[in-house]
Amino acid sequence: MPTHEDVDAFLTETLVGSDPAGAAALAAQHDAGLPAIEVAPVNAKFLHLLTRIAGARRVLEIGTLGGYSTIWFARAVGPQGTVVTIEAESANAALARRNLEHADLAARVEVRVGRGADVLPTLEGQEPFDLVFIDADKESNELYLDWAARLGRPGTVVVLDNVVRGGEVADAGTPDSKVQGARRGILMLGTDPRFDATALQTLDRKGWDGVAVAILVHAGAGPGA
Ligand code: DHB
Ligand code: MG
Repeated sequence: MPTHEDVDAFLTETLVGSDPAGAAALAAQHDAGLPAIEVAPVNAKFLHLLTRIAGARRVLEIGTLGGYSTIWFARAVGPQGTVVTIEAESANAALARRNLEHADLAARVEVRVGRGADVLPTLEGQEPFDLVFIDADKESNELYLDWAARLGRPGTVVVLDNVVRGGEVADAGTPDSKVQGARRGILMLGTDPRFDATALQTLDRKGWDGVAVAILVHAGAGPGA
């Protein structure tokens, strides 16, 4: 009986295919000692397709790590598009820049170093983002969702990573702060009138997790602001 890893390998091989620049970015990230918590290739391709389906030209990513998902967003926005990606660790940001250079995509990407809480306010007043991907410290999910709404426009796509965490998200009493962050993110997406959302459980090479996808119905500051 095939396992979910076998299925992931089949889907990745068939639908994502050969990706030398992505593989080089992951190898560089591994050699630098970063954790292998980047999105799985099938998930990266999902984000890439979602970006193209939305016709997004301006993408905001919160949580760069080594730039693997960033590479897939940069491919999706095309030569006229822009990806702004925020990374708290300067060494990770430097690695991501090298990986983007190697992938020949650096011209489309602005890597901003700092905590989301500090960098996000500096993006106010720019053209709104068409798609926002939140994949950083899970404890700050609500803050990042609020900024996604402020920096977006009606119709902006908002994606929140890691919302299932091996099923733990269904445990309201979990002591895990990352899972509590995932729960608060889902609760905000379900109650804040700025968002209309759903979430899908996923099973790929990283195991059982999930991704929430939302559309911004109203942009700007929230009802509590
Ligand atoms: C973690 C973070 C991620 O973004 C991810 O995809 C998986 C795990 C973590 O911090 O545990
Ligand atoms: Mg993630």
